[in-house]
Amino acid sequence: MSDATQAMIDACKRHTLFNWSARGGVSPLPIARAEGVWLYQPDGKRILDFNSQLMSVNIGHSHPKVVQAMKDACDGLIYAFPGSATQARADLSTKLAELMPGDLNTFFFTLGGAEANENAVKLARLYTGRHKVLSRYRSYHGATNLCMQMTGDPRRWANEPGSPGFIRVLDPSPYDFSFGENEEEKTANNLRYLREVIEMEGPQTIAAMIIETVTGTNGVLPPPKGYLKGLRALLDEYGILLICDEVMAGWGRTGKLMAFEHGDIVPDIVSMAKGLTSSYIALGAVAMRDPIAKHFDTNVFWGGLTYNSHPISLKTALAVIQVMEDEDLVNRSARMGEVMRGHMERLTAKHACVKTFRSIGMFGMFDLQDADGNLIAGFNGSHAAMKDLGAFFREEGLFTFVRWSHVMSNPPLTISEEDLAWGMDVLDRGFSLVDNAIGR
Ligand SMILES: Cc1ncc(COP(=O)(O)O)c(C=O)c1O
Repeated sequence: MSDATQAMIDACKRHTLFNWSARGGVSPLPIARAEGVWLYQPDGKRILDFNSQLMSVNIGHSHPKVVQAMKDACDGLIYAFPGSATQARADLSTKLAELMPGDLNTFFFTLGGAEANENAVKLARLYTGRHKVLSRYRSYHGATNLCMQMTGDPRRWANEPGSPGFIRVLDPSPYDFSFGENEEEKTANNLRYLREVIEMEGPQTIAAMIIETVTGTNGVLPPPKGYLKGLRALLDEYGILLICDEVMAGWGRTGKLMAFEHGDIVPDIVSMAKGLTSSYIALGAVAMRDPIAKHFDTNVFWGGLTYNSHPISLKTALAVIQVMEDEDLVNRSARMGEVMRGHMERLTAKHACVKTFRSIGMFGMFDLQDADGNLIAGFNGSHAAMKDLGAFFREEGLFTFVRWSHVMSNPPLTISEEDLAWGMDVLDRGFSLVDNAIGR
């Protein structure tokens, strides 16, 4: 590594904090530029982005049409206060209303996913006049205080206590505890349990339930058959709103534009971010159905952000959506998802260390096991072989997430079959190392 690169890393470490880390433990990846599915280090080494960064650069890096649109955006109106009407605001909201299923026709723009979820809850509380929120343990909803309380995963622990009224429930498919033998049974039993929780909490106190439609970081867990429809019906019975967090699962990742389309439902509120601009710039949005929007015709929406409807962000989103349409990326995700699934099946059959995998569209995760068939690192744990695996990927030029017992496979929706196979070959060789480490 050159002196200049080392100096850059040192400055980043000395003067900034990194997400979810103690400073002494971070070893940031130096990146100079990125193009398509490849990241380039300052010394020119290229790295395959097998996780779309934070499962968010869905159209690949530096798409020339979006880069040009962003440059053009700077020639016009760069900023206008959120009380303004702008062409970008008119164009993007109209486009989103066309694209979103059902009567999800009104939007509030934010800077990212956590702010979208914050405002989703605010809308639900103001609309229903109730305050409690249900969420699931295997979930992540963002790092702000309210979102941390809805988040089920261990990132919540150090952020407790939060404000009261956040009730977390078990997912329909926890790993080590099953609600049933098959999908229908799991759905029925989980919804029976959920009904009991609702009754015990007092349905008249619950504004909304928020779910990651397909749980992301905590397992790539698509809902079992009938769950989304059953959940929708159950919450409707009690006048509880359904918020689908599509921050990670939305924008083509699962092979549909929005993951809730797999379940043939329309949520009351949808939060989105990441893929909305392919992360080229900060933008999130909350979509709401007509009756909720109508409520705010005569009732004040008690929320606001300096960067609500930032023109450059909105123009970037329009350009990204245009690319997604021109290149048919949602259908491509479904098609390439089958190719990716084939690789994942092959590696699971080949390697003793791979316990199982899940994938939907270009959203995939392997679970690794020890010689006894237990998850190699357990819940919230670590294992030397997983650390070595992460180091191997880095050495070989593959960027993906290795977390607890899991290895993620979430490349950009634009990846070619050749690059996908290249990445899977690195995983293949990495899994052989873990096979050796567990002695099988
Ligand atoms: C499902 C989900 N919701 C919310 C968030 C928070 O989004 P942001 O980091 O943009 O605030 C994330 C981020 O990873 C996410 O995956």
